[in-house]
Amino acid sequence: MSLLNNINQNNVPNHLAIIMDGNGRWAKQRGLLRSIGHEGGTKSVRTTVETCAKLGIKNLTLYAFSTENWNRPKLEVDTLMKLLVSSLKKEIKTLQENNIKLNAIGNLTNLPNKVQKELKEVISKTSTNTRMTLTLALSYGSREEIIQAVKKISEKVKNNIISIEAIDESIINQHLYTQDIPDVDLVIRTSGEHRISNFLLWQIAYAEFYFTDVLWPDFSEENLYEAIVSYQQRERRFGKTSEQISK
Ligand code: IPE
Ligand code: IPE
Ligand code: MG
Repeated sequence: MSLLNNINQNNVPNHLAIIMDGNGRWAKQRGLLRSIGHEGGTKSVRTTVETCAKLGIKNLTLYAFSTENWNRPKLEVDTLMKLLVSSLKKEIKTLQENNIKLNAIGNLTNLPNKVQKELKEVISKTSTNTRMTLTLALSYGSREEIIQAVKKISEKVKNNIISIEAIDESIINQHLYTQDIPDVDLVIRTSGEHRISNFLLWQIAYAEFYFTDVLWPDFSEENLYEAIVSYQQRERRFGKTSEQISK
């Protein structure tokens, strides 16, 4: 029986963020090139996106390429960028059919022109879709995101657009790449690594974490249900006592 039956559709995370890890190891286990692992990972992306939309998750963020990933061998970086372009071209149909809006966060100007162009096109074509917002973290680093926010805010303080006293959580939120996206409720990381790798440091302040040994290309619908079921079994207290929460 599918774990889908155990999911309470009224309590799914409003924002799910996934660190899609393990493509390289998946390929290595099969004696294949790492690029084949990345290709295998795109299937899991499609299943996950469709399943999240069906479950009623409003915001899904996928960590696809980090600022640190630029340090990988050039051949692998090139392969990943090509795969991005071809996936965007192919998946626009899936996004439209499922009423999903595409968004991207990160230092996007560092991406090759072809990727930027394709991204812009899919973002603009899907901009009025309302069922779910899919955010791709590309050339994304949380520390870099925070640095650029500090710079923008400082500039505004210098030009008397905002006062130092006015700086609060909301002002900081507005200057992050994630702007209008709510805080993360659940982070999933595949492949058995138990780390954050510079992902959404500010936005995960009160997120729940779910780690699985499953490698990203093997991550299935059922694996996603498992994570959601685990999330729904937790009591999120936000600093309060259990008694206060159950009232
Ligand atoms: C995740 O898989 C994809 C990216 C980081 C782009 P990896 O490529 O990190 O796979 P492993 O961790 O080497 O197995
Ligand atoms: C994190 O995975 C980045 C993405 C999933 C895109 P990595 O494989 O790059 O992370 P580390 O280096 O193992 O921490
Ligand atoms: Mg990895």
